[in-house]
Amino acid sequence: MADITQSEVLSVLKKVKVPNVKTDHLTLNSIKNFSLQEDALTFDLSVYTTDGNIEKDAYDKMADSIKAEFPSLKEIHMNVGASKPQVSTHNDPKKEEMLPGVKNTIAVASGKGGVGKSTVAVNLAVALAKDGAKVGLIDADIYGPSIPLMLGVQQKPRVFQTDNGMKMEPVESYGLKLISIGFLVDEKDPVIWRGPMASGAIKQFMTDVEWGELDYLVFDMPPGTGDIQLTLVQTIPLTGAVIVTTPQEVSLIDARKALRMFHRVNVPVLGIVENMSYFIAPDTGNRYDIFGAGGGQNLSNELDTNFLGGIPIDPRIREGGDKGIPIIYESPDTEEARSVTAIAHNITEQVNIRNAKGTSKVEISLGDD
Ligand SMILES: Nc1ncnc2c1ncn2[C@@H]1O[C@H](COP(=O)(O)OP(=O)(O)OP(=O)(O)O)[C@@H](O)[C@H]1O
Ligand SMILES: [Mg+2]
Repeated sequence: MADITQSEVLSVLKKVKVPNVKTDHLTLNSIKNFSLQEDALTFDLSVYTTDGNIEKDAYDKMADSIKAEFPSLKEIHMNVGASKPQVSTHNDPKKEEMLPGVKNTIAVASGKGGVGKSTVAVNLAVALAKDGAKVGLIDADIYGPSIPLMLGVQQKPRVFQTDNGMKMEPVESYGLKLISIGFLVDEKDPVIWRGPMASGAIKQFMTDVEWGELDYLVFDMPPGTGDIQLTLVQTIPLTGAVIVTTPQEVSLIDARKALRMFHRVNVPVLGIVENMSYFIAPDTGNRYDIFGAGGGQNLSNELDTNFLGGIPIDPRIREGGDKGIPIIYESPDTEEARSVTAIAHNITEQVNIRNAKGTSKVEISLGDD
């Protein structure tokens, strides 16, 4: 088969995109041991994902497109490796100093309040932990901590003496390690801290808590893009940020501001999650786009970032939050639970891509606020 070249085959394979991630399997290094001899093609496909469907989809699409493009090839051998994703490490000197045992740090943020940051942060952390990752969660919203309620824990963390001074042990729930100001102060006492004190508290949550080894440390951020939030995102050595929005225009405007804030301080945005995307009527199963359709996806396109997925609006999500039982434990076989799991998988992929690339800054123009 002298007339088929290796680069022709690779360019066909490169056309097979990874769902929800703006790249292909070749760029992700999923294809190895490539060999083209006579009329036989052999390579290994090892997709970096917790989602078996992505691997199967890649296999099918590659097999189909090779057969279609190169009918003269007599043998195609694809060795598909079952691969649990390893969690890559974000190399950052500041993170090594503050959080040496933590591989990656992810901020869950939004410009607007009440769009579901805490809900997304909790469910994301639980979904990652359910996949087998070691996960911690910091409630960085010291003005309105919601993690204790959402995970049904109200317990003072144990404080103990170490060679490096007093340390605090995170509280454990649903396989997560947690810290919230809500564990330390009375619910009825309003926290009236200024910006520097807020970032001081978050710094202590990082350095004075015995986190041990973690794959991910997730931060539930306070709403807004003001000075306090800016100080916080500069204090935390972040691998990346996830921006939560609802489909309404008002929330999208604030999501743009949040994205701009992270770009300003050079934190990569892993993508956008659209919460309260749509409603599925329980009696008919019909879908209703209450706040309009496609807002998060359109915004992701406009800002050249990834759309990580949408979460429907569902009373069970709110009830789960109030009862302290996350949806993926309370009702794992629902579209709501599956949507959360899919988002966690997409975030894992994004973290691995960023770490493979290094933290390259993406230049975009957002116009005026
Ligand atoms: N997909 C959903 N379906 C139903 N209810 C939801 C959903 N997402 C969030 N909620 C509910 O909406 C309310 C606000 O959510 P949440 O506290 O997560 O928002 P937030 O962005 O963290 O708010 P804040 O800006 O105050 O920190 C909560 O009562 C929560 O249970
Ligand atoms: Mg919140």
